[in-house]
Amino acid sequence: MRILYLNHVAEISGAEMSLLSLLGGLDKARYEPVCIVPGPGPLTERLLKVSPQVRYAPFVRFKRTRNPLLLFAYANLLPVTVKPLVRYLVRNEVHLIHSNSTIAHLHGGLAARQMGLPCVWHVRDLVPLGWWARVYARWTHKIIAISEAVRTHLQRCHIPAQKIAVIPNGVDLSVFAPRSSSLRPSLGFTEAHFVFGMVAQLVPWKGHAFFLRAAAQVAQTIPNARFLLVGDDLFGDHPAYVQGLLRLTESLGLEASVRFLGFREDIVDVLASLDALVLPSFNEPFGRVLVEAMAMAKPVIATNVGGPPEIVDHEINGLLVPVQDVSALADAMRRLAQDRAWSEHLGKAGRAKAEREFDIALTVQRTQEVYEELRGKG
Ligand code: UDP
Ligand code: GLC
Repeated sequence: MRILYLNHVAEISGAEMSLLSLLGGLDKARYEPVCIVPGPGPLTERLLKVSPQVRYAPFVRFKRTRNPLLLFAYANLLPVTVKPLVRYLVRNEVHLIHSNSTIAHLHGGLAARQMGLPCVWHVRDLVPLGWWARVYARWTHKIIAISEAVRTHLQRCHIPAQKIAVIPNGVDLSVFAPRSSSLRPSLGFTEAHFVFGMVAQLVPWKGHAFFLRAAAQVAQTIPNARFLLVGDDLFGDHPAYVQGLLRLTESLGLEASVRFLGFREDIVDVLASLDALVLPSFNEPFGRVLVEAMAMAKPVIATNVGGPPEIVDHEINGLLVPVQDVSALADAMRRLAQDRAWSEHLGKAGRAKAEREFDIALTVQRTQEVYEELRGKG
């Protein structure tokens, strides 16, 4: 079965890391992937290692808007960007389209309809879709939701339950595995420091400001605590937010204990250098980085909303805290830093859960079951 995967950006965040690991594990004797991305970029380079064919086609990065001029521009642009996809499908035999995001599905769903092909819409966000949800659902044969939280969100948009399969993202447990890191000295940290890390795009809903404010509280009683922020404003949409975080670090007097590392390719090494991972998002659909850290036997702290409570079990493999609550986050961070043995115990339980529930082999198997269900449909 030849499957056309569509991804609307060439940068790498959780959706792309998840696509890369899915393609890496796909049974290539049964499924032949072809990928379409907007152009060269970090994703494209890594896709070439797991997919024999990577093609380019334009995608429109739609933003939610009520601006009539923008809506008019989008309505005119979409047919233009769907055309190259349809042209590709006319010239090449493809049996199924797998759209790796909602924006990709806007293009993939339309192309699939024109060509009478089965189509999978991979839903990785909790963005309100309004009445568009039902339109998108009509263009798709099966929806993959990355968490129960996403499934509930879709059902609230009146999407029929039988169309939705919940398939959590998985990680390669041999890559994301407990190991030592030699990164600390280059960051100015020693083994005596307790290092908290946040690995997330620099976008407001990830809650970096809460991490920094909690860090300021923690630093008052735990002088050996250190704080890493890893990730970037990938699409350049939030320059003021990034500047604000730098100013906040300064005004909290945290320059000596906080490091901003920007986007890192060597995320396994970065995670290995941490004592605990923190993800204080306001409404996280899944939170792949939690699973990566758990697979590396790191204790995690996450907010109790969206996907994370399906991943993290409070006081078993990590801690869950209420959203946008600086004191609760600081308390949780202190509990870990003050009891290294317990922290390590939580980390080991995290690895065990990752082995049970987030092995990429499971994700691949469940996704292939969806492909089999759709074989020959259109
Ligand atoms: N990541 C990375 N380098 C960075 C920051 C993040 O490779 O500097 C990866 C991280 O390992 C994870 C993904 O980007 O696989 C982020 O996924 P997640 O689902 O946590 O967040 P998203 O950005 O997709 O909302
Ligand atoms: C999206 C979500 C994130 C999820 C990722 C992979 O980027 O924000 O929570 O882990 O997709 O599915």
